[in-house]
Amino acid sequence: MLTNPSQVILRNQDCLNQHKVLVLNHEADLLPKALLDVATSVDALALDYHHHLQLAPQAGPRLHCYFGHTLPQQDPQPEAQYDSVIIYFPKAKNLAPYLFNLAANYLKPTGQLLVVGENKGGIKSLVKLLPDYFSTGIKLDNARHCLLFASQLVGVAPPLKLSDWLSQYQLATPQGEITICNLVGVFSEKRLDLGTELLLSHLPTFSGRVLDFGCGAGVIAAALLKAQPSLALECVDINAMALASCELTLAANGMTAKVYPSDGLAQTTGQFNGIISNPPFHDGLASTTSIAQRFVIDSAKQLKHNGIWQIVANRHLPYSDIIAAQFGQLQVPADNNKYKLYYFQQA
Ligand SMILES: C[S@@+](CC[C@H](N)C(=O)[O-])C[C@H]1O[C@@H](n2cnc3c(N)ncnc32)[C@H](O)[C@@H]1O
Repeated sequence: MLTNPSQVILRNQDCLNQHKVLVLNHEADLLPKALLDVATSVDALALDYHHHLQLAPQAGPRLHCYFGHTLPQQDPQPEAQYDSVIIYFPKAKNLAPYLFNLAANYLKPTGQLLVVGENKGGIKSLVKLLPDYFSTGIKLDNARHCLLFASQLVGVAPPLKLSDWLSQYQLATPQGEITICNLVGVFSEKRLDLGTELLLSHLPTFSGRVLDFGCGAGVIAAALLKAQPSLALECVDINAMALASCELTLAANGMTAKVYPSDGLAQTTGQFNGIISNPPFHDGLASTTSIAQRFVIDSAKQLKHNGIWQIVANRHLPYSDIIAAQFGQLQVPADNNKYKLYYFQQA
């Protein structure tokens, strides 16, 4: 089953005939594989690990699947190489200029850019958003509540430097000041999220192997390691920009942790002495509790004897029941008018 944006690309696939195609920020479907009917080859770069996991089993000689904020670095750098780049307009609108820069760096001179997105997701302002190294965007299609625009690389784009897309700033936390490196599109730019603040204000003392689930730019990770530097911390997130930000944040604070992609807890292994999180409650544009519910169920299984589990959640979300069902008992060490802390220690 293809998403609406993918269906719109498919019905316009003739403009990719015999092209070497790169798909950026694709969704959780097999559109890149379907394009092999017309394209010579397709490379697909997912910035969401769940989307990558859906497509990766289909990889073959003409379909290459990658996860990350760029294609894997090659030495020497290959020349710009694609006839066409397709961008799925990102849910985080401020990520769009980054994707345009990335596309331009990978396109052949005069190569074709296609940008698709849902009407409600910001695609309508594409013509204004396209940088001047692309020609004016032309509307190719309008269907399935989506728009598809086409443009052409007409100038030379600046080389992609991650530092151009990064804000680095000092953040005061209950554990002291830390440096945060936040790439575009990552949660909670330039301020301490109120939920994270409540969590850090009541930080339990952990030991051993600890998991920071949904690490974002590494705010919890850096504050935790500042207060408890001997922890063996693991930071997971589904989002490539978040993982890159977290690595930069840890490096900027002279800290180390294992940072890796995981869809929920699926890519974590073994048991933890501690689990901490400000878990997600959005999936794309939709608000959801299902990711956090799955996290509660899975983390109950991965908590060691005496292990400590603490999360913060928006108080209007119905966590109490599911947490009580999994852990049998529930403590709420602190709350405010917006957030609640949930704490559990494995007996
Ligand atoms: C509310 S933010 C918290 C970020 C950070 N811990 C903080 O407090 O600033 C939730 C994070 O969960 C990540 N996330 C969303 N869905 C996920 C999933 N299925 N598996 C792992 N991480 C996920 C998001 O990318 C986001 O970085």
